[in-house]
Amino acid sequence: MNLKAYLDGTVAEVDAAMDGFLPGEDVRQEAMHAAMRYSVFAGGKRLRPVLCVAAAEACGGSREDAFAAACALELMHTYSLVHDDLPCMDDDDLRRGRATCHKVYGEGMAVLCGDALLTEAFLILTRAKGGERYTVGDMVEELAITGGSRKLIGGQVLDLEGEGKKLSKEELVRIHEAKTAALLTASVKLGGMSAQAEPEKLEALAKFGYSLGLAFQVIDDILDVTQTTEKLGKTAGKDEAVEKATYPSVIGLEESRIEAERLTGEALAALEIFGDQGFRLREIAEWMLGREY
Ligand code: IPE
Ligand code: IPE
Ligand code: MG
Ligand code: MG
Ligand code: MG
Repeated sequence: MNLKAYLDGTVAEVDAAMDGFLPGEDVRQEAMHAAMRYSVFAGGKRLRPVLCVAAAEACGGSREDAFAAACALELMHTYSLVHDDLPCMDDDDLRRGRATCHKVYGEGMAVLCGDALLTEAFLILTRAKGGERYTVGDMVEELAITGGSRKLIGGQVLDLEGEGKKLSKEELVRIHEAKTAALLTASVKLGGMSAQAEPEKLEALAKFGYSLGLAFQVIDDILDVTQTTEKLGKTAGKDEAVEKATYPSVIGLEESRIEAERLTGEALAALEIFGDQGFRLREIAEWMLGREY
């Protein structure tokens, strides 16, 4: 199967699973479930669930056993975007090619929608299979640490504090590690855990996810400068306008490109232990480096 077919197929399966998990728009509270579904089913590359499923397969696990974790990751990610776009955060009007959640449903509802998606993520994760080496409790712990104040939230705090400041590259790495790389690391780790992977393989996945996650945010920062709003489905040029601390602003565009390549190379090197079984993760990492949105 070529990569495009693999990505399309996995996205369709993950979307169907999320559709099954999430309450319908006819379930109380109807307006909230409409807002949650509006934000989740707005497109989106579904990279975190794809990485989760591909990591499970690289460890010899089944796709089906990874779906609960894959859906939980996408819901946590979507919640983080709904809140990231709020007027008190990045104040964005456009997301995934649509008006942002607060633009359509109002700010109060968007805050609550994020809260509900985050909570739902953990509910779905409790449906994971679990096994002897990694229990469902271990998976919940992994996601909770990732989404909490030590990682994702902590990174968003640093991101806000960094606005208008001239940060060093080291400070910038600390932001990106927490706000973005942590969730990509958890994505591949949860895939590995759902496959009950050997500890050395889980360790390798963590290294892969970390470097890939850093590369991912460097590329997000580059695209903000180089792409159009239409292509991105979110407002281009936003980082510069609010003086965000980004890779292009700290080390320049050309150096940022070199850094993204270097980090992707580091990620690929971490896959050595998987041999041929790592081919899909390798393909995905290479595709992510060349992405245009
Ligand atoms: C955007 O993530 C937010 C970042 C962490 C940079 P994605 O680029 O994965 O967004 P979607 O899910 O495809 O919309
Ligand atoms: C978002 O980073 C990171 C999280 C939501 C945790 P950005 O603020 O750079 O993401 P975009 O560019 O709005 O998608
Ligand atoms: Mg932000
Ligand atoms: Mg933003
Ligand atoms: Mg960005």
